[in-house]
Amino acid sequence: MRSAFCEKLTSRPFAVNHVVPLLNEEAFALTLQAKPALVSFALGDASVLVKRAHEAGIRVMHQVHTVQQARQAAEWGVDVMIAQGSEAGGMTGTVAALALIPQVVEAVKPIPVVGAGGIADGRGVAAALVLGAQGANVGTRFLASREAAANEAWKQMVLATESEQAVKVAFWRDLFPSSGRGAHEVSPRAIRTPFIDGWQGRHADAQREAEQLRAEIMRALQQRRPHEVVPFSGQSAGLIHETLPAGEIVRRIVTEAEEALERATRYLK
Ligand SMILES: Cc1cc2nc3c(=O)[nH]c(=O)nc-3n(C[C@H](O)[C@H](O)[C@H](O)COP(=O)(O)O)c2cc1C
Repeated sequence: MRSAFCEKLTSRPFAVNHVVPLLNEEAFALTLQAKPALVSFALGDASVLVKRAHEAGIRVMHQVHTVQQARQAAEWGVDVMIAQGSEAGGMTGTVAALALIPQVVEAVKPIPVVGAGGIADGRGVAAALVLGAQGANVGTRFLASREAAANEAWKQMVLATESEQAVKVAFWRDLFPSSGRGAHEVSPRAIRTPFIDGWQGRHADAQREAEQLRAEIMRALQQRRPHEVVPFSGQSAGLIHETLPAGEIVRRIVTEAEEALERATRYLK
């Protein structure tokens, strides 16, 4: 796989992500063969997968939403921890990044921590570093990048959204209950749609109609129109006003972070 496919895409180090409760064994075996610089896991008990990755000589990063999950992942021997706050897009817990990041840093020292959730510009990266993280994991900002696979309508929704419109989809767990593999307690954050507004707070109804709702969501995903049902997005959408090339986003973030850190230290004097 590495020579036939990955090396065509890049000669630089790359990472591969696997969502533990949805793990595809064949894809994971191919990942190990491809020997990426790093494998990242999310949303469940990755203890066995961490061991397999280490045996293949690959470093591991794991996403956590609570201090308890961080302590557990430290016991598995993960090399880098992502502390993802509840502001994040996609599947999230309930603790905000400002509280979570420093607690995870303390709990897993000396394992390096990457902060995530609500970070869309250099000010956010500076904040994560000040909280003790060694880096930042940015998701929603890259949804509105030129290279992102999301369709144009979804990208436009991110640009037009205020933070309070990116809500936790509470009835998701009625449709997709925990699926084993030590699944983390999470639900998605997405931009409000008539579909979301129509089912929020109606847990008993959602459970009764679960089969039909799951089919509706899967149909939208297959037809590449997820923005009509659950357009995953974090609260940082409120900070994002234009679609940019991914490289430009990274360059701006680095410059802004340097400025933000310098500005912050001036206030201490
Ligand atoms: C549309 C979308 C899809 C995501 N899918 C995954 C995924 O498959 N695996 C994963 O580990 N994290 C996933 N995430 C979470 C991101 O990796 C990242 O931790 C998160 O977006 C950071 O918060 P932010 O959105 O506030 O920047 C996703 C996020 C978004 C917005």
